[in-house]
Amino acid sequence: MTTNSLIDQAISVLRLNDTGVFTKPGPHQYPHQWNWDSALIALGLSHFDLPRAQAEIRSLLSGQWQDGMLPSVVYHAAPSDYFPNPQFWQIENSASAPRVPTTGITQPPLLATIVRLMHDRQPMPEFLREVYPALLHWHRWLHTARDADGTGLACIIHPWESGTDDSPRWLHLFEAIHPEALPEFQRGDTRYVAATERPNRTEYERFIYLIDVFRKRNYAPAELLQHSPFLAQDVLFNAILFRADEDLRALAVSLQEPAEEIDGWLQTVRSHFDARFWDADAALYYDYDVRAGKRIPVNTASTFLPLFAGLPSEEQARQLVEQHLLNPMEYGRDEDVRHWVTTTAKNEPTWEARRYWRGPVWVIMNWLIFEGLRRYRYDDLAQALRRDTVGLIEGAGFREYYDARDGSGCGSTDFSWSAALLIELTKDR
Ligand code: DGY
Repeated sequence: MTTNSLIDQAISVLRLNDTGVFTKPGPHQYPHQWNWDSALIALGLSHFDLPRAQAEIRSLLSGQWQDGMLPSVVYHAAPSDYFPNPQFWQIENSASAPRVPTTGITQPPLLATIVRLMHDRQPMPEFLREVYPALLHWHRWLHTARDADGTGLACIIHPWESGTDDSPRWLHLFEAIHPEALPEFQRGDTRYVAATERPNRTEYERFIYLIDVFRKRNYAPAELLQHSPFLAQDVLFNAILFRADEDLRALAVSLQEPAEEIDGWLQTVRSHFDARFWDADAALYYDYDVRAGKRIPVNTASTFLPLFAGLPSEEQARQLVEQHLLNPMEYGRDEDVRHWVTTTAKNEPTWEARRYWRGPVWVIMNWLIFEGLRRYRYDDLAQALRRDTVGLIEGAGFREYYDARDGSGCGSTDFSWSAALLIELTKDR
């Protein structure tokens, strides 16, 4: 298939999922507007329809809470069979909820990075001036309302905030959570996708239990930080935030806005990042369990995300690439597992080839790692990863994730960010 016809197909997927107000991540499985999906969708759209890309971002920002939080999902007025629905979240009891229905939690803060990428390619000063205050407000909220210990590192209170819901890095935290009384609920996520490709019941029950805890506390940020049974500092989330702070700073400079506050976040986080996350013996970044006060020694692809943020030294980057990314026992390709980068190291006991964030290859992770490799001048490796990722889409279509053994597709079909990133990965390269 030629690159151009693949790009045409990607554009058709984005058009198919376009409701006119926002773009659905997937036509059936995800019928509302998801935060980091929407940022990537805007990036894809910006290649061929900049006004529509800007409209996507405006529509996401319409769900911003008064305290600055940008929620993981904005429901708009679209009725659907998706669970959990706005009636379940009950955000109206919070003092800072917006008018439009949303969830009560956030998601990885990619948006400032995407806005900067778009602006660098095609200057849009007016749009920048319009959205900058909202971006600053969100980042300020992340560095204050979610800073549990003065490190500037943002805590997550729900695995859905990591965007990698059932990643094995969260299993150990789940062991300490015992849902006493679960509210009544009916899962909707296994209606369109096989249950074997979705989170297990034990994990799902804890996802729901946590929402119940939060709604009982009316989503008051200080209370959630103090009482959430799940409290983690996530390498992926904080690497994305650090990179987004750098990009927010660049936007501030181009708008001639003061940047001292952002400089402060960057300095504080940089000075704590390694002490908190880097395990020198394993040469891996591990997530941190805040309640237990210790790292979570599970090897997942999040360990490569600091490359995207420029945080590792050259030596740390070399170790990550040589000891892990290329190691056939962990992430490197071999005869049985022909594609990369699996979201969990293959030698982790919890690795599963087709289950959600337990092992499959995700286009978003590959794009973030591709950008990280380029930042550290591993250009040949980055191009090899780019080709493998495009090949997966060519072989199995725009799927949500892929079985790394044979490249077959899993999860939602016609998945928007796979389409958006296909355009990003193939345009002018
Ligand atoms: C889902 O419904 O699976 C989402 O990941 C939650 O945001």
